[in-house]
Amino acid sequence: MNEQWLTLAGRRLVPVVQGGMGIGISAHRLAGTVAKHNGMGTIASIDLRHHHPDLLARIDCMHGSHSAADIKAAIEAVNLIALDREVRAAKSIAGGNGLIAVNVMKAVSAHASLVRQACESGADAIVMGAGLPLDLPELTASHPHVALIPILSDSRGVSLILRKWMKKGRLPDAIVIEHPGHAGGHLGASRVDELGDARFSFDRVLDECREIYASLGIEWTRVPLIVAGGIHRHEQVRQWLDKGAAGVQLGTAFAVTEESDAHPAFKEVLASARPEDIAEFTSVAGLPARAVLTPWLKKYLSRQPALQAKAKVRQCLEGFDCLQACGLRDGVARIGQFCIDLKLAQAVRGDVARGLFFRGRDPLPFGERIRPVADLMRYLLTGVLPAELAGAGASGVSGVAGSTAGGVAAEARSAMRLSKNAASSGSFTVRSN
Ligand SMILES: Cc1cc2nc3c(=O)[nH]c(=O)nc-3n(C[C@H](O)[C@H](O)[C@H](O)COP(=O)(O)O)c2cc1C
Repeated sequence: MNEQWLTLAGRRLVPVVQGGMGIGISAHRLAGTVAKHNGMGTIASIDLRHHHPDLLARIDCMHGSHSAADIKAAIEAVNLIALDREVRAAKSIAGGNGLIAVNVMKAVSAHASLVRQACESGADAIVMGAGLPLDLPELTASHPHVALIPILSDSRGVSLILRKWMKKGRLPDAIVIEHPGHAGGHLGASRVDELGDARFSFDRVLDECREIYASLGIEWTRVPLIVAGGIHRHEQVRQWLDKGAAGVQLGTAFAVTEESDAHPAFKEVLASARPEDIAEFTSVAGLPARAVLTPWLKKYLSRQPALQAKAKVRQCLEGFDCLQACGLRDGVARIGQFCIDLKLAQAVRGDVARGLFFRGRDPLPFGERIRPVADLMRYLLTGVLPAELAGAGASGVSGVAGSTAGGVAAEARSAMRLSKNAASSGSFTVRSN
């Protein structure tokens, strides 16, 4: 493979991007480590207070003595303080290498203040999904050097954003194309039965985007496309870079690294999930989502029709109104009926029985093993497996998605063959600690 770099915000990065994962799964440690290895590390901005006991204590002591409005304002304020701390800590780990991005979901009520805080705290890029980021150029107008990266799923979305942003005199610095049929978390389709639609195939999106760029007079390399969802093998990285993508983004595989900010139990739930343990459902945000069928999710899905039948407008359970539109609070019967803030907060604390554990659909590069970020990036970029796993053979690595131990071992052997080629062509450089 020829040496290929992802050029973003004037920096030369390795073409492996770590996707933002909330709540608190990709915070300073994970994003900073990925950036230290010359990649783009992404902090998920939502509800970062859960990583800061002093900030949680500030809210706890308000209950009973303050109004709901005061508590809501205080939660929003401490989340901004937490984001500021996380961006600065990530940059310090990165030591000037790579790039630190902040992921903001458009569906979140506080999206505008999170974007502003991220820019003020020194984020190099804002990545926005879970809704169309039409207002992102205006929100960041006073920080013109911050790269702007929408997350979209099909070429129709790409065309719309390019046209609307061009009228504002701005182009995205890159676009993440996330496949709803594979990715973890909230998905960019309107319904669960649409997740496998052919319009989301990377092949088709890349081909259609070439035509769109040409018709708008945009050079192919001017707005790099980064494909996300289901990527777990070096061969896939090669395949999509050869096809014209400028990079690949992974979520689940980074969530289970040593440096991931997730609780050890969270990593174990994701790493040990079998294909039949992964479910798709409609979240309270009205978007399809993919997660592990943990005890709570199983029970919730069995009760969902009954809960939907009783849907009614009510006050936000957490007094926080985290989402602009919430099925539970707004009584929207056709979508989810649970408190997402509560469920994700339980997951970040490692509460396996009660939490919601988002996960992509596909196998993990190292099976159930929790390995350092450096091992993951090296494998994706060069095909070189960590020595213990390469030597472990059939019993060493066990994948999800029905891959047999033999199948994974074969995959490992093929990766080893590729690693020789990569090493001899001197393709990617991944910094080691
Ligand atoms: C635990 C988890 C949480 C996620 N949270 C977010 C999020 O807050 N915002 C977002 O844009 N994407 C989120 N994602 C999607 C990832 O950033 C990434 O694009 C996706 O997982 C890629 O698919 P993969 O998991 O198959 O690699 C999340 C994914 C996971 C697994």
